[in-house]
Amino acid sequence: MPSVAVVGAQWGDEGKGKVTHLLAQRSDMVVKSQGGSNAGHTVVVDDHIYKLHLVPSGILYPGVRSVIGNGVVVDPTFLISELEYLENLGIDIAGLALSDRAHLVLPYHRLLDSLEEEGRGQRRIGTTLQGIGPAYMDKNARTGLRVVDLMDRAHFPDLLRDNVERVNHVLDRVYGHPAVSFDEIQSACERAADRLEPFVTDTAILVNDALDNGQRVVFEGSQGTMLDVDHGTYPYVTSSHPVAGGVTIGSGVGPTRIDRVLGVVKAYTSRVGDGPMPTELLDDTGDRIRNVGREFGTTTGRPRRVGWLDAVALRYAARVNGLTSLALNHLDVLSGLPEVRLATAYTVGESTLDDFPASLDVLKQAVPAYRSFPGWDAFPPTIGELSALPAGARSYLAGIEEAVGVPITFLSTGRERGDTLILEDFFSPSERR
Ligand code: IMO
Ligand code: MG
Repeated sequence: MPSVAVVGAQWGDEGKGKVTHLLAQRSDMVVKSQGGSNAGHTVVVDDHIYKLHLVPSGILYPGVRSVIGNGVVVDPTFLISELEYLENLGIDIAGLALSDRAHLVLPYHRLLDSLEEEGRGQRRIGTTLQGIGPAYMDKNARTGLRVVDLMDRAHFPDLLRDNVERVNHVLDRVYGHPAVSFDEIQSACERAADRLEPFVTDTAILVNDALDNGQRVVFEGSQGTMLDVDHGTYPYVTSSHPVAGGVTIGSGVGPTRIDRVLGVVKAYTSRVGDGPMPTELLDDTGDRIRNVGREFGTTTGRPRRVGWLDAVALRYAARVNGLTSLALNHLDVLSGLPEVRLATAYTVGESTLDDFPASLDVLKQAVPAYRSFPGWDAFPPTIGELSALPAGARSYLAGIEEAVGVPITFLSTGRERGDTLILEDFFSPSERR
């Protein structure tokens, strides 16, 4: 009985929402295990565009449980607005479950995120300013507040007061910034506790029970491998673990319970935020890919940096995630280009690098060695099978599989759901709802 982890294999925004959502409609449960409102997933259902951040995309299907796991950092006020947004669109949110062990993102985390970014000056990370880094800092410093604390009406004010006092000390001494108000945060937290209480539970029990009962579970990734705090382009990363290993810690399941790991990639590379990106295109081709691909952030609206697909980075992602297959999105965006390129190695000075380096200096000097593929014109309106694709596109796909060593089993050639070719079924037909 397969459970599938869907992970971003690049720098985020690979189209994980689309892939998860395709799997979600055949599944019983969708689980998020890390990240927070820095994630932004666009899902199109029956011509309606949904923008999801904290809530797993299973919420769009009645009967599918949507689990926010312990590894997610949750801004309670943000979550409530997202639930309101969904309810206003007529979505039933009863299937949501929120881990009692998830850590909270509070207003001072957002403030500290901005102040820290300002303080970094030229070395800024380009965060989403959602308070993610400071919230994970509190978690790891063992000063964080969890959902279980929020629900403990008797003790929460004291815990919050300690935190607010500590933060105000830092605001004053380090940043010369006015204090934040305990009363304001406390009353917002009280309202949030009332609203969120019905969803709070030990979600690891839910997820493990579902797996024990042979249900179909999809672990929905946020961010991407290259943003992982251990495996990404440190320090230009997020503060959590978007790789497959993060799923086990962040949802409370053992590694033996994840059957497949699907790495989601775009047919090119994009990155929002600062930090090295060897295949970045700063020319007309880059502008064209950005405009055709509508590469502007879901969470921040920022234009994304774009470049050719990077098989050095993808091989690395295949290794650290144990990818069993790839989902390739946005292939149509490259239609009409005279040629399409794939980086298969880097040249640094006199030497050739086949493996993604740890050093940012080395990465900055890295000049991609490209394999070139012939371009293709527009795709036919519907693509029922691979052979319907133009020859150039087919040779590009074969080149990617060869360079990365992982088969492509999902392929998206457009915005519509019907434009997706599923070449591997994770859930056999008898198991589908
Ligand atoms: P989804 O789930 C793309 C990037 C930010 C920044 C770095 C750190 O939509 O793929 P943070 O706010 O997390 O401290 O920012 O990580 N980043 C993302 N980039 N997609 C995301 O999520 C991202 N979440 C964070 O731009 O470079
Ligand atoms: Mg996104």
